[in-house]
Amino acid sequence: MNSFKVTGGNRIDGSIKLQGAKNSALPILAATLLIKNKSVIHNCPDLSDVDAALKILVKLGCVCVRDENTVIVDSTDAFNYEVGKELAGEMRSSIVFLGAIIARMGKAVISSPGGCELGPRPIDMHLSALKQLGVIIKEEDGVTSCNCPNGLVGGEIYLRFPSVGATENIIIAACLARGKTVIHGAASEPEISDLADFLNRAGARIKGAGSNTVIIEGVPCLKSVEHTVMSDRIVAATFLSAAAVTGGSIEITDCPAYNMQSILDFFEKIGCYMKIKNNRVYMKCPSEFKASGVTVTDVYPAFPTDAGPLIVATFSRLPGENSLLETIFENRFRYVPELNKLGADICQNGKTVTSKGKKKLFGADVNCTDLRGGAALVIAALNAEGESVVNDIYHIERGYQSFALNLKKLGVDIEEL
Ligand code: UD1
Repeated sequence: MNSFKVTGGNRIDGSIKLQGAKNSALPILAATLLIKNKSVIHNCPDLSDVDAALKILVKLGCVCVRDENTVIVDSTDAFNYEVGKELAGEMRSSIVFLGAIIARMGKAVISSPGGCELGPRPIDMHLSALKQLGVIIKEEDGVTSCNCPNGLVGGEIYLRFPSVGATENIIIAACLARGKTVIHGAASEPEISDLADFLNRAGARIKGAGSNTVIIEGVPCLKSVEHTVMSDRIVAATFLSAAAVTGGSIEITDCPAYNMQSILDFFEKIGCYMKIKNNRVYMKCPSEFKASGVTVTDVYPAFPTDAGPLIVATFSRLPGENSLLETIFENRFRYVPELNKLGADICQNGKTVTSKGKKKLFGADVNCTDLRGGAALVIAALNAEGESVVNDIYHIERGYQSFALNLKKLGVDIEEL
């Protein structure tokens, strides 16, 4: 297993071009299955999760070619409808393929990825919505088998919670269904709008993506399409946090600033100078930070759960009381004991973690517990005296393209072991 060796103390100063969004690329790749032709996807990040999605497509009979950050998927000859345990387990969000496989093949068999790093990850909303579109579902021994002998039929779907993945699955499945589907209580994350843009460009008829009511008029088929994946707001939050923890400055280009107000608000609140122009964000840290108070994660446009660990990693630098209240996932604090090995002294009380006053961190051996928690450990290590070794960085590689290289360019002393 690979590790990063990080020597803390260097101040970040530089400019970085943001990568494409993982959470946008994955559902878009799944949706290529609906198109009996070629899809050209630009700005598709080179990540292990994207590799896993491409492997699933290949297994289903698609031809996938990558040229740097452009991926071409040819789904003309897709024939398979099964995703086995090994492939499904490689990527936690393999469930986003379910709607696409059913829509294309009329049936699907998919193994569940099992227990997850962020706590239980039920798929009940995905399944009950698909049932309402006419899918017959059987679940046995961690395998979900779906059949749709009479084809998908549009319907009214009410989500009890605005699940990102369920909204995406329904949108994808409903594109080729007969008639109209309305999703009430849909998630409104920007990555869902990106998926809808991709599908509309291919001839789908989706309205309202990005709001809580999405209307999809089914069409008989979709056509070849070219699309550029939106930039990754969580990776932007990662580099802003890294710059903050070192007291430095950073410019991020290709940054979807208009989709990350709650993240930018956090850095303004702790006293950073921000300058935002078009898709460029410049941030400079103050000589003395301010306390952040309580940050609460919630569905878009509130502060994103995925950025929670990243700001917690900056708490050691902040005066006063700094808390994060996590409302989306049950078990998202597994990285906290690892941060504490560096001296962060963060206390957990139920759904809230709190740090009181500035802390001096020291280099230590720490283990990534999940993707964003792993990135948080690297961020904290930038503010630790001496050398830290961050192990199990395969978690980080799921979501960050050339993470160490980019940090190095910004002035960080980091190397992969
Ligand atoms: C997506 C993102 C993930 C992000 C999350 C919340 C991708 C690939 N992943 O995950 O990075 O952290 O949105 O913004 O885009 N739930 C149920 N039943 C369901 C589905 C979800 O109870 O059928 C619950 C989950 O347990 C969780 C909450 O709903 O507590 C949010 O999950 P959801 O929005 O579905 O997240 P994902 O789509 O899995």
